[in-house]
Amino acid sequence: MKAIEIRNKYLNFFKKYDHSVIPSAPLIPENDPSVLFNTAGMQPLVPYLLGEKHPAGTRLCDYQKCVRTNDIDEVGDNRHLTYFEMLGNWSLGDYFKDESIAMSYEFLTKELGIPAEKLSVTCFAGDEDCPKDTASAEAWKKVGIPEERIYFYGKGDNWWIAGEEGPCGPDTEMFYDTGKPACGPDCQPSCDCGKYVEIWNNVFMEYFKDKDGYTKLKNKNVDTGLGLERMAFLLQGKETPFDTELFKSVMDKLEELQKVDSIRSRRVIADHLRASIMITCDGGRPSNVDRGYILRRLIRRMIRHMNNLQINLNELGNIIDVEIEALKEMYPELDQNKKDIRNVILAEKDKFVKTLNHGEREFQKEIKKLEGTKVVPGRVVFRLYDTYGFPPEVTKELAEENGMEIDMKEFEKLFKEHQEKSRQGAGQKFKGGLAEQTETTIAYHTATHLLHEALREILGEHVKQSGSNITEERLRFDFSHPQKMTKEEIKQVEDLVNEQIQKDLKVTCEEMSYEDAKKSGAIGLFTDKYGDRVKVYTIGDFSKEICGGPHVTHTGNMGRFKIKKEESSSSGIRRIKAVLIKED
Ligand code: ALA
Repeated sequence: MKAIEIRNKYLNFFKKYDHSVIPSAPLIPENDPSVLFNTAGMQPLVPYLLGEKHPAGTRLCDYQKCVRTNDIDEVGDNRHLTYFEMLGNWSLGDYFKDESIAMSYEFLTKELGIPAEKLSVTCFAGDEDCPKDTASAEAWKKVGIPEERIYFYGKGDNWWIAGEEGPCGPDTEMFYDTGKPACGPDCQPSCDCGKYVEIWNNVFMEYFKDKDGYTKLKNKNVDTGLGLERMAFLLQGKETPFDTELFKSVMDKLEELQKVDSIRSRRVIADHLRASIMITCDGGRPSNVDRGYILRRLIRRMIRHMNNLQINLNELGNIIDVEIEALKEMYPELDQNKKDIRNVILAEKDKFVKTLNHGEREFQKEIKKLEGTKVVPGRVVFRLYDTYGFPPEVTKELAEENGMEIDMKEFEKLFKEHQEKSRQGAGQKFKGGLAEQTETTIAYHTATHLLHEALREILGEHVKQSGSNITEERLRFDFSHPQKMTKEEIKQVEDLVNEQIQKDLKVTCEEMSYEDAKKSGAIGLFTDKYGDRVKVYTIGDFSKEICGGPHVTHTGNMGRFKIKKEESSSSGIRRIKAVLIKED
């Protein structure tokens, strides 16, 4: 069964059970800097899992384009992929464990024709936060899974949350037995030997986690995720996703073009190429930060592996065409954007070729100097990076090809020092730019902090800044919140901000380590993991926030705060526009 047939069967099956089919959100979340890419079907649905009413109802299903980059180094084995498609169905306070499990079982055994004896399942074993999930186990028994194929595991295996905070709950996972021999007497689904492959995860989302622990959500929800590529290769009796129609033509093309043989390199190229195509198609562009850097890394790593296979890089355009051809039935948008996708990836290739030529020459020189040692010092890795833009992961791969390791610890230390210096540099620049900050924009900046804290006090601590923009005329503030604010809430927020302005609170600034800032309870974006020292601005005893400044010294003369507009910015994100009115 081809992947597209599995997708269609899935959506039709859940349609039959009254689910609305909703479109895949773009890979790049709109206006949400807290995640780089959508990594699960539930991500665009968070506001609804938190209780907001979904316009399409309480039963939903879709296919979602996803990118996960935490496993990037595992790509090349038999199942890890950077880009993948997740099939999902959701109950927003509608059905729960029994029905969810019965539908999953019916889909797997009847629609896909998987023999029941090939299925094992796992359930949550229970702990101090949540009791053992016997209800799921009973539901599995009821549909026909015998007790000996029902396993119980703890939070590490059978609990699901996206990141650190958010909706979450115990899950039950379905595993496909490939029929390979057990690796030992203790071989079970949690084992990594390859006998069991996880195919579907049903999360029973009835909890919400934040830094204070777990609370119950308004609704008992179900969130499921089925990995399409895995299902495709298993049903086709293949060993890996790379043997399916999604990758086969590219894998063959690479084999035809290569002068040196490496199955791992072919898989890395095929995976990274598909991910790069999908990201580019959804508007991603290579750069040195965040998403752009991931895309850059994917393209560059792919080129390195093309070089490993000694494939002429001028063939890349043709290889892109082959992959788009293989995917366009599933993603018609690829054909429409083909020219753009090609241009972006090929331009990045040209840039990287220049970098590589330089860097590799320098690497070879360094290696000669290091003759006899086994470790490439961090300072060498850093110099290659700093002077030639040569990525440390490429140095690592080159070193490994030469039977050497790299001193990553020393590299990271130097990298941190470097970041710190450029941060200070940026601070200087900012000070220089202060002349452009007027009294008005500075006041708006402080008002933004007051607004942020007021929203958290009135609406709750789930409120997180997701964007902000200041002009001479107004401030704009985007934040996570599942529903429209009521008139009453808007008024309360305004009043709370104005109260702080009237109190003429003192604004102070302290520099501290990132860790201390976090401990002090300062809010703000904790995303820059290399930044060691940060500035924390405190406004009286009302607000404490990490920020580069500048701010007013006292709140008294800022004017009267008024919210002009409260509207949706994107799914789960609200946008406020507000002004400060000078009344004298
Ligand atoms: N959100 C769940 C997962 O990604 C279904 O596995």
